[in-house]
Amino acid sequence: MNTILVGAQWGDEGKGKIIDVLTEEADIVVRSQGGNNAGHTVEIGKEKFVLHLIPSGILRAGKKCVIANGVVVDPIALVGEIEGLEKRGIKLANRLLVSETAHLVLPYHRLLDEAREIRKGRNKIGTTKRGIGPAYGDKAARTGLRLIDLTRPKVFSAKLKARIDENNAVLKSLGGKPLSFKEVEKSYLAAGKKLAPYITNTVIWLHTQLESQKTILFEGAQGTFLDIDFGTYPFVTSSNTTAGGSCTGSGIPPHRMDRVVGVMKAYTTRVGEGPLPSEDKEISDMLHGMGREFGATTGRARRCGWFDAVATRYARMVNGIDELAITNLDGLDTLKELKICVAYTCHGKKIQYPPSDADDLAHCKPVYRKFAGWQQPTGDVRQFKKLPVAAQKYLNALADLTGARLRIVSVGAQRDETFRV
Ligand code: IMP
Repeated sequence: MNTILVGAQWGDEGKGKIIDVLTEEADIVVRSQGGNNAGHTVEIGKEKFVLHLIPSGILRAGKKCVIANGVVVDPIALVGEIEGLEKRGIKLANRLLVSETAHLVLPYHRLLDEAREIRKGRNKIGTTKRGIGPAYGDKAARTGLRLIDLTRPKVFSAKLKARIDENNAVLKSLGGKPLSFKEVEKSYLAAGKKLAPYITNTVIWLHTQLESQKTILFEGAQGTFLDIDFGTYPFVTSSNTTAGGSCTGSGIPPHRMDRVVGVMKAYTTRVGEGPLPSEDKEISDMLHGMGREFGATTGRARRCGWFDAVATRYARMVNGIDELAITNLDGLDTLKELKICVAYTCHGKKIQYPPSDADDLAHCKPVYRKFAGWQQPTGDVRQFKKLPVAAQKYLNALADLTGARLRIVSVGAQRDETFRV
């Protein structure tokens, strides 16, 4: 069974952990969008791994992992990640494949990302400053460089020279420092040499694997409301984080996909700017006080709020979510009363789906339904029916309001603190 896994909220839903669990059933794990703006955390015993580009499936022995064409790759960051994993005893040879048509993130992308954020001032997006937007911008403008270029040093150098000349002029006009062509060329070609054994035509390789009945898990990065088309534009990332992105980002056609699993937290979080209708200070303070909800990539404190069923209902629709994995239930263990946002009122009207415009969303007020808390620890529970009744009711309400079947519940950061329903 080929599975697409997506974030059903604003990213940071705990996907790394669920991917790790679902990897057990798959032969191959594929990343098909985003770049090293993502941070997927997996905790195994006392060890904690945070992966940014390499699919977290790499942590399961024998599984093969693909960074497919839809990802934007910072080759220096990728080499760092490969070396970091190898130092910790994870073997990557013959297990990791990187698409030759994936686009490169270059130093001017990072500098432009930063300079544009500064210029936006109060209207900034709150990006991860990893150069993701400018890299996808170059891809769409047909001025990008790809991994295949890195494997042909002469071609790479000529293309890079032209791009650095143009981007240096832009950087200067934004008050930034120009880049040295020689330095960038040297460091990127060195990274290219290290990556050469992994770079290949992943489309053909993936199709060959499907012909021999291998199963694929598509590891979504970020979340539905950070999608460039369906998210809270412009406070979004620059790729299609929703289910369709798995097809265009890998070359595997839609009819080969068998199910979509949506991952969502038992509450809502967001990093970066942009509207978040159910944001709530009480729940934010509580979670931060527990040491929870700090970003895996940038360390920023995440904004927190009550579960937003208006958002997850929309996420179910655009992704075609069949099954739900709900994470971080244990984060709510101490609360006496919980709320779920079941509708919004926007400019005097009650609405069931988020409006298309971020300004309208910023004016939406949540309509809440209240639920009793369970006030007991759930971290040791491994069966749905052993959960406190109030927690069962709460989870069932999340699934019903979203409109998909509850399949996985996670009650802690560890690999085994998860159970199927
Ligand atoms: P960018 O992807 O760095 O351009 O950032 C655009 C927006 O997406 C910002 O609000 C980021 O905080 C958010 N973002 C990007 N990647 C992630 C992620 O992996 N988890 C959560 N938010 C993310």
